[in-house]
Amino acid sequence: MNSTRSLSGQSALVTGADSGIGKGVALALAQAGARVVINYAHNKDAAEVTVNEITAAGGEAFAFQADVSHEAEVQAMFAEMFNRYGTIDILVNNAGLQKDSKFVDMTLDQWNTVINVNLTGQFLCSREAAREFVRKGVVEGRSRAAGKIICMSSVHEVIPWAGHVNYAASKGGISMFMKSIAQELAPHKIRVVGIGPGAIQTPINKAAWDTPEALEKLLSLIPYNRIGKPEDIGKLAAWLASDDADYITGTTIFMDGGMTLYPGFADNG
Ligand code: BGC
Repeated sequence: MNSTRSLSGQSALVTGADSGIGKGVALALAQAGARVVINYAHNKDAAEVTVNEITAAGGEAFAFQADVSHEAEVQAMFAEMFNRYGTIDILVNNAGLQKDSKFVDMTLDQWNTVINVNLTGQFLCSREAAREFVRKGVVEGRSRAAGKIICMSSVHEVIPWAGHVNYAASKGGISMFMKSIAQELAPHKIRVVGIGPGAIQTPINKAAWDTPEALEKLLSLIPYNRIGKPEDIGKLAAWLASDDADYITGTTIFMDGGMTLYPGFADNG
């Protein structure tokens, strides 16, 4: 491994790293020199593909099954990570899902599932990581920070989304969760940052890009006129986790081709 890489000697955990944005982030962190735990909820085969891609490129990774909304499973995952890698330097809270429904038809189960995975999952993982960051403090020569937490949010942290109220509420919640723990943990030299992706081409939004008609409609919401790729978010996450971003904490970086620029106003209003 090249010791000059920005995340050399660091250990990272990426939740939901078996597909989509999480996979893109895991590959980018590994490419920057980090060892990576590939968390997945259900798809072991896909998680192993991510691991194999990393190891084939000379990196280090292992897959671990845990539902991030279950405290005991999260704690077992961190215990295994500490057992294998000794500690954690970077947590990427990425696991997330949608259970879309018209508001008046939304079931309590649809609401709870989305809040539990998207928001409570970030709480459970961040708490375990923060405990370890506080315990170990800054390790000379490894990173200027004692630890970094990246919270995967969405443009729907600020853009209301009819038919997806549970999802938008979870992402709005992530924003204040991220800022509040950033404020509390900064004195411990722990950085907490949000990423707000726009439309990224992944399984979660397949219906929005897999036909020319759907894609055209989607692109009307994106001034930069292209759909994002998991690698776009991966590169941003690797940079945010590195010391080049050491003075960034408590803010969300939107990476959305301009989706948050109210494109409907470009020729209107
Ligand atoms: C959602 C996608 C959606 C995108 C832009 C994301 O957070 O998961 O389904 O395409 O936001 O609206």
